[in-house]
Amino acid sequence: MGQWMDVQGLLIFLCVLLLVKHLRDVLTNIMPPGPFPLPLIGNVLNIGFSDPLGSFQRIAERYGDVSTLYLGNKPCILLTGYESFKEAFVEQADVFTDRPYFPIVGKLSKGKGLIFSSGHMWRQQRRFALATLKYFGVGKKTLENSILQECRFLCDSIQTERGLPFNPQHLVTGAVANIICGLVFGHRFEYDDHKFHLMQEYLDDIFQLPISNWGRVRDQPLITMLYTRQTDKKSKIKIIKCQYELPFLQEEIRKHKEERDPSNPRDYIDCYLDEIEKCKDSEAEFTEENLIYCVVDLFGAGTETTSNTLRWALLFMVKYPEVQEKVQSEIDQVIGQTRQPLMDDRTNLPYTYAVIHEIQRFANIITFTPPRMANKDTTVGGRLISKGVMVLPLLKSILQDKNEYSTPYEFNPAHFLDENGKFLKKDSFIPFSIGKRMCPGEQLARMELFLFFTSLMQCFTFQPLEGQTLSLKGTIGVSSGPGPFQIHAVPRKCRF
Ligand code: HEM
Repeated sequence: MGQWMDVQGLLIFLCVLLLVKHLRDVLTNIMPPGPFPLPLIGNVLNIGFSDPLGSFQRIAERYGDVSTLYLGNKPCILLTGYESFKEAFVEQADVFTDRPYFPIVGKLSKGKGLIFSSGHMWRQQRRFALATLKYFGVGKKTLENSILQECRFLCDSIQTERGLPFNPQHLVTGAVANIICGLVFGHRFEYDDHKFHLMQEYLDDIFQLPISNWGRVRDQPLITMLYTRQTDKKSKIKIIKCQYELPFLQEEIRKHKEERDPSNPRDYIDCYLDEIEKCKDSEAEFTEENLIYCVVDLFGAGTETTSNTLRWALLFMVKYPEVQEKVQSEIDQVIGQTRQPLMDDRTNLPYTYAVIHEIQRFANIITFTPPRMANKDTTVGGRLISKGVMVLPLLKSILQDKNEYSTPYEFNPAHFLDENGKFLKKDSFIPFSIGKRMCPGEQLARMELFLFFTSLMQCFTFQPLEGQTLSLKGTIGVSSGPGPFQIHAVPRKCRF
């Protein structure tokens, strides 16, 4: 009995010690305001499990655009609002370019690649990626032609569904992935190619790992707080396999090494291999290992985001047939049915262009941009952000700002139209984020969204299945897409 009391006494003593230490840590830390954290679990209870994303928004509403949250025993800054983003990521661009370290991401990419790298290496890899994308036509006519070719393949494949119910996911993702394949590998795949599927699945798994269950266990509590994924895809074994084997990528690199002509690079891999040979800057890390991480990042960031947005687009058109009808009538008037859409048509299609913006705003596929951290003590909105503390930028809050959008929680293309029906540009519309770390694929994505969307609207009318209620609830992930759905694609009269 005496011994038991001793153990009990010791436990109570340890708990009191922990509490005192916790109170001292929290009270002596000069952090922006936020809900009071509990020892060990931090603000888990403030965030909750039923609607974690809504909780972040409510915390921001209560404590302001720069607030503190404890994820476990680690403080982090929740950043919301366009003005705060601008002050941090544009006005103090050099202070906020680095990403903080996550154990799981560190293990998967070792801090290499494009998305989770930092410092000199990130700068050099990003500069190279941007220059290479530009060299292969991003923002130019050459790429427009490749996307238009892919639009034809996509429409032909949808045509073979003969208006019967189908799930567009496989075809849309294949079409979007093929654009990156063209830029990175120099060729496209057939939509039913087994290797192509396997590659998409592997890359998707690697990209989604930080939010898969295994990732959550490894990195909790941060990841647990931020993201949850409904299914784990029994990923652990598969991920280890992808991480160390990535057989298709190694195969592509081997073939490129054998066949390439340094005076005539065909794609990103050729250019990268060239850079490995030329580069004397060892800290920039142009290596074959880093090439793999960069390719994974380009695919991960460039495929799911765009294909999720296009799937949302189809779902919204089915859900709001009056919007679909107006888009089609504008396309019929400006482009007609005998030629494909071109980027130059954008200015003459204000309603369609506004609809594409509203799709991106309303779908809101990226709730949080990947975290940042300050490389020195600084302030945003007059509040201290200490060096090294993780900053979580809540992009969702900006795309649903009540002061910018008259009906932020409704699908309403008028958000991007003026009183004369002309397209209305909004500075605070930043689905690709802002500053030095903003999406390097923005131009490419905008071109893809415009050409794929107008081509689909020109060639088909999308309709729901009889008696079907389509859900607008998004999946939770790095980029949020609609859940699986089936629709009819009724052909229109395109003749090209
Ligand atoms: C609708 C489509 C897309 C959306 C909404 C989107 C959005 C974003 C956002 C919000 C970020 C985070 C920026 C930050 O940390 O502040 C990002 C990063 C990134 N995106 Fe995109 N993106 C899209 C398409 C693409 C495409 C097509 C590519 C392929 C070239 C791409 C490649 C990347 C890369 C490599 C990064 C990491 C950049 C860095 O950390 O320096 N994205 N994107």
